[in-house]
Amino acid sequence: MGSIDYSQKIPNNVNLAEDRTLQRALEQWQPNFIDWWDDVGPDASTGYDVYLRTATSVDAQGWAHFDFVKMRDYRWGIFLQPNDPNRGIGFGDHKGEKAWTDVPGEHRANLRRIIVTQGDTEPASVEQQRHLGATAPSLYDLRNLFQINVEEGRHLWAMVYLLHKHFGRDGREEAEALLERRSGDENNPRILGAFNEKTPDWLAFFMFTYFTDRDGKFQLSALTESGFDPLARTTKFMLTEEAHHMFVGESGVSRVVARTAQVMKELDTDEVAQVRAAGAIDLPTIQRYLNFHYSVTIDLFGADQSSNAATFYSSGLKGRYEEGKRDDDHLLKGRTYKVLEVQNGALVEKDVPMLNALNEVLRDDFIKDSVAGIGRWNKVLEKAGVAFRLEVPHKAFHRNIGALAGIRTSPDGRVVGGAEWSANLDRWLPSDADRAFVASLMGRVAVPGKFAHWIAPPAMGINRQPIDFEYVRFG
Ligand SMILES: [Fe+2]
Ligand SMILES: [Fe+2]
Repeated sequence: MGSIDYSQKIPNNVNLAEDRTLQRALEQWQPNFIDWWDDVGPDASTGYDVYLRTATSVDAQGWAHFDFVKMRDYRWGIFLQPNDPNRGIGFGDHKGEKAWTDVPGEHRANLRRIIVTQGDTEPASVEQQRHLGATAPSLYDLRNLFQINVEEGRHLWAMVYLLHKHFGRDGREEAEALLERRSGDENNPRILGAFNEKTPDWLAFFMFTYFTDRDGKFQLSALTESGFDPLARTTKFMLTEEAHHMFVGESGVSRVVARTAQVMKELDTDEVAQVRAAGAIDLPTIQRYLNFHYSVTIDLFGADQSSNAATFYSSGLKGRYEEGKRDDDHLLKGRTYKVLEVQNGALVEKDVPMLNALNEVLRDDFIKDSVAGIGRWNKVLEKAGVAFRLEVPHKAFHRNIGALAGIRTSPDGRVVGGAEWSANLDRWLPSDADRAFVASLMGRVAVPGKFAHWIAPPAMGINRQPIDFEYVRFG
């Protein structure tokens, strides 16, 4: 069950060979994908042999095979979780009906929009991260970056498969457009804001994979509940891959924090200038990076009140995080949820219909999940005897979407005027000087087992290999 056919040009577990038309359409898209990879994928990486995992089955146990691969030759494929013919729809107006194997006509436009929006984030992050290889702090980290990059490429394949198989001509056009938009391009940007931001250095990369890949986890989890069964099955397998991306972020920031704490103890100082002079990233700068990535990521969940969110839920297209574990009626009509708005210069909560607030529900689930890892970073500081603590800023801080867009608050959620905002901007968000300092520390370390000075080594290697394993061989 679930094994993948690698004898095919496009590895898959969906019997692609039996659907010639679809196979031909995807085989036509494939060279365009490779062109895109060559064009805006990882810089100068074509000759590298990278110790990568490739999915060999969709089973939770032992689904990965590790070997040296040239990324351009990575076997991107189409893997769906096995079909459960009895699966029912768990929420919304179609609750209790059998899950759909084809797209219901009345939900076609909304489903396509959901799939395109998810699909667009996948190549976007590869584009955002394309220059990071040149400054990787170790071969171990370089390998992790590349693993994430190829898997985001595979996630694009996953969404393109759905578009080609279920949406006919306009699905094929959307699949082409996914290769044409570019992160940060003024004329043809990626769909969502956070995916047009730069990921200029490795602290940004670790924050991105901690926060923004976690947005992926929550979006994908909501889609695993979908009444459209092929979407549920494909996102389930994507989630398995996503776990490693978030691990890279959490352990990455943790290692940066550990090195900084070590330097602070050695010098017995919490002076930013001294920490920086010793080649470590000061904790206030790490906090500002956190503030930035957290705030742009929670914008990804969309407006706090949204009639689209209500429609997606009621029509069975997108559920809540862990829908099946919730003991309510899974219809949510007549229920309310608290969202924030500004009244008389202060943030206040107000009750709104829950169906309209489902973006906010998902955002709050995300927030709970992100806070846990920050607690683990603080444990590192505590153990080292450093008093500083990292924290997430208030939900209203630095927002650009929904009712909080344009409202200026301090990181602790106090509404402030324009003058106070401008005066404190460099204390609350990374300044040009912060970014320049972090950039000054970046430089490739390519000796097996060696790590850049600003980051501690990991606790263990990949796939039980030693830390000084040669994870990337330069051609
Ligand atoms: Fe992804
Ligand atoms: Fe990811």
